[in-house]
Amino acid sequence: MCGIVGYIGPKEKKEILLDGLQELEYRGYDSAGIAVIQGEKLNNFKAVGKLKNLREKTKNYTSKGFGISIGHTRWATHGKPTELNAHPHLGAYSYVVHNGIIENYQELKKELQQEGVTFLSQTDTETIVHLFEKYHNEGFAPFEAFQKMVERLEGAYATLLITEAAPDTIFFAKNGSPMLIGFDGEEVYFASSDTPIIGRANEVYYLEDGEYGYVQNGKVHLFDGNGEKAFQTQPLIADKAMAQKEGYRFFMEKEIYEQSRVMGETMMGRVLEEEIVLDELNADFFEGINAIKICACGTSYHSALTAAYLFERLAKIRCDVEIASEFRYKDPLLSNDTLFVTISQSGETADTLEALKMAKRAGLKSLSICNVDNSSIVRESDTAILTRAGIEKGVASTKAFATQTMVLWMLALYVGQVKQTLPQELLKEEIDAMLRTPKALVVTDELHAKLHRLSKRYLHGHGFFFIGRDIFYPLALEGALKLKEISYLHAEGYPAGEMKHGPIALADAELFTIALMPKTMHYDKIKSNVEELSARDATICAISPLPFDLADDFVQTQYSSHPMVEFFEMMVVTQLLALEISVRLGNDVDMPRNLAKSVTVE
Ligand code: AGP
Repeated sequence: MCGIVGYIGPKEKKEILLDGLQELEYRGYDSAGIAVIQGEKLNNFKAVGKLKNLREKTKNYTSKGFGISIGHTRWATHGKPTELNAHPHLGAYSYVVHNGIIENYQELKKELQQEGVTFLSQTDTETIVHLFEKYHNEGFAPFEAFQKMVERLEGAYATLLITEAAPDTIFFAKNGSPMLIGFDGEEVYFASSDTPIIGRANEVYYLEDGEYGYVQNGKVHLFDGNGEKAFQTQPLIADKAMAQKEGYRFFMEKEIYEQSRVMGETMMGRVLEEEIVLDELNADFFEGINAIKICACGTSYHSALTAAYLFERLAKIRCDVEIASEFRYKDPLLSNDTLFVTISQSGETADTLEALKMAKRAGLKSLSICNVDNSSIVRESDTAILTRAGIEKGVASTKAFATQTMVLWMLALYVGQVKQTLPQELLKEEIDAMLRTPKALVVTDELHAKLHRLSKRYLHGHGFFFIGRDIFYPLALEGALKLKEISYLHAEGYPAGEMKHGPIALADAELFTIALMPKTMHYDKIKSNVEELSARDATICAISPLPFDLADDFVQTQYSSHPMVEFFEMMVVTQLLALEISVRLGNDVDMPRNLAKSVTVE
């Protein structure tokens, strides 16, 4: 995920770009850059790290008067976050910014290198600008050269290009990654989402995949495979908060819907057809490591518990998990053959950070799995794998949990790969399942409507038990946590087989049981556990691909080919159920009482 802004017009371009990029910083903040062509003068600035570094670098630069400009905030996919890898990328006389991945860049790069082009960065993006200049140098007019370049690109892209060969024009193309065009009279804006142009433009056009074109003299020329086309703009929403929610009622709801897409981002460049590639880890990272200890809090702790099953089952490496606040004061026995893993969405959770410091003092190698680059936990760790969920605003964590679990699943496969404890055939099966996951995370209208309907039956009672076995036990814990955080109803997650050892005493019609009943994992066992509860008159809401007669309510899941695919689909069901119950109870979904997004105190 990267963010793009563009502007053509007479206003101070630097400010428009920097303010716009600020709104998009959640999309990535490894580095940022801008390029402006004004008359004959071309200026370009780049800075590694957050946008404030670029602001500092450009503080004495002004850019009033007619000109063209593009800006970018980067979230690295190809090549480390360095200035050379930051956008805009320069050819000999043109600049480009890009969001997405050019899948055939290696082939294009090779071709261009054979023709004598020198590449300065490790990015896929740089091929775009060289390809454009190649065609322009061959004698094609700038737009023809751009068109020929677009025809060669495969993969996902939203891209803007400016060139000294056409100093009054911005060229654009979109396929797979988001981009819109904003209008204010003759001034034209480009952005990855609404927020950078709210208050500046009043009309907007959301580009479709396969569209490209150029803007010149205040007029946008739009093309697709069939040639130039007419298009209809629409009024731009004026409320920034509304725009940030992109039409959803709550950030949490938006984040639940985003999970399918961000999962793709989490896997990008890491999950290959027959192999897991984690560039963050040196080849010898696991040398001498015989065990894994994971420390985390809350939802992150639940993803850790899930991972423990995966590490032991898939990678055959011992893994234990501890709540960070407990670990800190128990005088733990630590040995140097243990990799210390911390998991945190924010990277600032005080207990997790302190646990990490303790492990480091004891000489353990450390790895963090985190959503926020440069956060305290990332900086403190020997190395980090970012979850790439994008900013999560809802206090109740959803997409962070999904992406953490995905990264941990990848890591388990990676360990099995490097330690050669995972047969190639099984690795391939796991990878195939991974690639099916985004589909299982799609929220359909039917599913959401069903959970909205069901939610009205679960607003009272004396408590909820979410039950599951194996990896579905941590999912039950997470489902219960979600519900209590935003509904303020009492909910517990429990291993299904453990209910008869005590909690079943609570069973009556007012005890709501949310039963996670996957087809691919211990179905018959959990079925018996649910039958025991049903026999004591507990109200059962079963989530399963298999119809279950004793259920009072039943949510039928669609994907039942692999436990992890079932896991992710059931996760969405529990998230939506909690959301809809909370809405009916009139609670503040995004900012539930007594909670904070980042818990930086002990
Ligand atoms: C989850 O919905 C929470 N609000 C909370 O449990 C959270 O997961 C916990 O505080 C840990 O936060 P972290 O992932 O940022 O470290």
